[in-house]
Amino acid sequence: MTVPSATIQFEVNGEDKTVCVPPMKRLLDVLREDLQLTGTKEGCGEGECGSCSVRMNGELVNSCLVPVMQAEAATIETVEGLAHEGVLHPLQQAFLQFGGAQCGICTPGMLMAAKHLLAHNPQPSMAEIREGLAGNLCRCTGFIRIFESVVSAADAGSANPQETHAR
Ligand code: FES
Ligand code: FES
Repeated sequence: MTVPSATIQFEVNGEDKTVCVPPMKRLLDVLREDLQLTGTKEGCGEGECGSCSVRMNGELVNSCLVPVMQAEAATIETVEGLAHEGVLHPLQQAFLQFGGAQCGICTPGMLMAAKHLLAHNPQPSMAEIREGLAGNLCRCTGFIRIFESVVSAADAGSANPQETHAR
């Protein structure tokens, strides 16, 4: 049986998008398959690992749990929106510098969770970073390098808030 499609409009990384897809299709799959935004990764597919984290209307969500119909008229930010005109976001630069990424599966979700954290708390303590990233699992790094990357990006942000927190 063919599942009927619906036309759904939303904004991704500042661009208007229109998709015609089954309304219960996961936002994760729409991003990856229909919009070719494959930066967002699938880990568990069950809302447990955070690999698929994106920001939707300013909230951090697991895109594997969001039916695309819930994204109608939403503003969505994915990892592809972090770099600007070929220049890495300070968080990406910090992950690169401090070894915050190894296999990379968790990294886009970590970056979006870290961006979300710094948007609300530009100078988080280590405990606040641990708590802010608690929904994101990493099987490779042991987390310390990720936390150090976020500290470094936060420090860079305190020196240049426009760079780290406005993007
Ligand atoms: S893939 Fe979505 S939370 Fe794990
Ligand atoms: S870098 Fe491999 S899961 Fe985090």
